[in-house]
Amino acid sequence: MSDQVRPRRAVVVSPMLTALREGTRDHHVVVERRLALPDRIRGRADLGVTLAALLAAWAPLERDLAAADWTGLPVGARLGEAAALLRADLTALGVVGVVASDRTSGVRLDTTPRAVGGRYVLLGSALGGSVIAPVVERRLGLAEGEGTRFFRRSGRAPGADWRDFRQALAGRGWSSAERHDAVEAARQTFEFVGRTAAVRPSG
Ligand code: HEM
Repeated sequence: MSDQVRPRRAVVVSPMLTALREGTRDHHVVVERRLALPDRIRGRADLGVTLAALLAAWAPLERDLAAADWTGLPVGARLGEAAALLRADLTALGVVGVVASDRTSGVRLDTTPRAVGGRYVLLGSALGGSVIAPVVERRLGLAEGEGTRFFRRSGRAPGADWRDFRQALAGRGWSSAERHDAVEAARQTFEFVGRTAAVRPSG
């Protein structure tokens, strides 16, 4: 059977994914407003400041997620990690001396449902990044991926990561208490990113 006539496999949407989407819609709007991307990036210096602020959020969250209990879901504890791309972008832009704190984010991401909430937020941000990267490159006259590897998730497979994550969520049942915990953790993750990486008033 050719690809054209093969029926498309239905995409299963887990009740967990639905809960996360519905439970964090407003949080996404708020983080978009607070981060003001790509508007805040008018020059290379702005890009450097923005990436350093994002690293301050991503590094502790990814550390917390790597240490979480993932026994309840068949995905790697480091699925879609991207802080290394932020570091590479900063180096490419010649920004030196950015040291991300080695502390925890303070968001409780220890159990599988809570870790699911946090990972949902970080994986989902790649969707926004793919919209932001070309705008920043055009505005700053950068080559594709120059200082925008994090936004593009260059060399990674964000589509496959997202698909694996969705499939894993759909592959098991979740109690309402587990969905509640995941949404709570996702909201707190959004809030942490918004707080940590928000545009700082200058002057
Ligand atoms: C600030 C600029 C941002 C823009 C312009 C943006 C834009 C987008 C877009 C276009 C989508 C895809 C919507 C769709 O296909 O239905 C999306 C999804 C998503 N974004 Fe953002 N985003 C931004 C920031 C962020 C940040 C910082 C995070 C996380 C901290 C984030 C988390 C998510 C999540 C979790 C989804 C997935 C929603 C889902 O399919 O369940 N976004 N975003």
